[in-house]
Order: sequence, then structure tokens, then C-alpha cells
Amino acid sequence: QMASGQLSRAEALACSGCLHACHVLLYSDTPRQLFGNIPIRHIILMQMRFDGLLGFPGGLVNPAEETLEAGLTRELSEELGVALPISVEDHVNSCHAPASSPSSSPSSRLITHFYVKKMEEEQIIEVERAATSTATDHGHEVLGMVRVPLYTMKRGGGLGPFLSHSFIGSARSQLIDSLLRLNLVAPEELHEALTRSLKIHSHT
Ligand code: APR
Ligand code: MG
Ligand code: MG
Repeated sequence: QMASGQLSRAEALACSGCLHACHVLLYSDTPRQLFGNIPIRHIILMQMRFDGLLGFPGGLVNPAEETLEAGLTRELSEELGVALPISVEDHVNSCHAPASSPSSSPSSRLITHFYVKKMEEEQIIEVERAATSTATDHGHEVLGMVRVPLYTMKRGGGLGPFLSHSFIGSARSQLIDSLLRLNLVAPEELHEALTRSLKIHSHT
């Protein structure tokens, strides 16, 4: 059953006048601990974009010229500096971008396609390395890669403050949905972090 605003991949591709953007959440498990006692559990890669917003790697794809997955793979080679083939099996959902989004005028509505790919820890560290060295977009469209802190520390540091930053499009909800769906954070821990992230905003 699909949530409101969602389309199947086929329905999305049938929209002739639509623009398409594909983004991917890359993650791995990790046995490492912060300060030797806080389990990091997973490495999830996001990026600081040229517009100062946090988002997932990926970008605009033209389905008339390439498949969605080939286009996403091309965007990843530009933004991350690695050949990282994304396949149809990695597809999670496709949604109409909210009407408030600057890229969605009535004549060219934006459909965003979201993918998730699990990797080995060594591979994801290699992606981070390439993203700041060989990637052509580094320093221009991509200002840096960031890992998502999944823990909540005694004084509240971690996921809560991370979620209080500004995100592009639906990247924040794509992250939160994925944390739950992939069991990367316990629901009660996520709920606590969400509550903290809202409190941070109410103080500014
Ligand atoms: N969820 C929903 N929408 C998103 C997400 C997301 N996680 N990430 C990005 N978008 C939207 C943004 O509004 C963006 O304009 O998708 C559009 C395309 O994604 P980008 O990654 O920004 O596109 P990219 O192809 O990498 O190009 C970057 O360069 O040529 C310029 O202005 C052009 O925005 C473009 C930029
Ligand atoms: Mg790009
Ligand atoms: Mg991009």
C-alpha cells in the first residue's frame, strides 16, 4: 500500500511533462564506537549541498535519454567520484515533490525517486575518500560529505541536533522513514530525537 503522494515507478515514468530527480541513501554497518563507549552502529552518507542544505547524493535524470538508475549512477560518479551501479531493486519510492518546491512549476512538476543501497564499511569509506578527492563536483555542487549520528548522548547530542538542520526537498523525511524501515534506530530513540530536534528550533 502506497502513502499519499507516492507513485509507482511505471506511473512516474508515464508522466510526459515531469522532471525527474533520483537520490540514494548509502549505508553500512559498523562495529566502531564513539569515545570507546557509544556504538555508532551504521554509517549513513549525506552531503552538504551548494545551497547550504543537507541532502542525499543524486540529481536530475532525463528518462528520455537514460534509465533512472543509469542517470543516478552518472550523478553519483560526478558527486562521489566512484562508479557505483544502482539497480531497480534499490528503488524505494517515487513521489511528486511538494508544490512549494522551487523546482516544481505546474508545467514541469518534479518527481523524486528514492533509492537505498547497503554497502560494506570499507566500500563506504572509499566513497567518502573519493568524494573529497577525485569527484568533479567536490567544492562546487557538493561542499562535503557528512555521516548521520544515530545515537543520543546523555545531554541530547546526536540525532536530535542533526535533524534540526535544514534539508533539501523531502530528504529529512526520506532519512527518518529509512531509519525506521531499515531498523537503523529504535522507534522510541527516534521519537526522542525528533522531539529534541523540534525543541532546538523553538529556541531560535
Ligand atoms: N527529496 C526531494 N527532492 C530533492 C531531494 C530530496 N532528497 N534532493 C534534491 N531534491 C530536488 C531539489 O529541489 C533539486 O532541485 O531535486 C532537484 C534536483 O536534485 P539535485 O541533486 O539538486 O540536482 P543535480 O542534478 O545534482 O544538480 C544540482 O545544479 O544545474 C544546477 O540548479 C541546477 O539544482 C541543479 C544543481
Ligand atoms: Mg549533481
Ligand atoms: Mg545533486
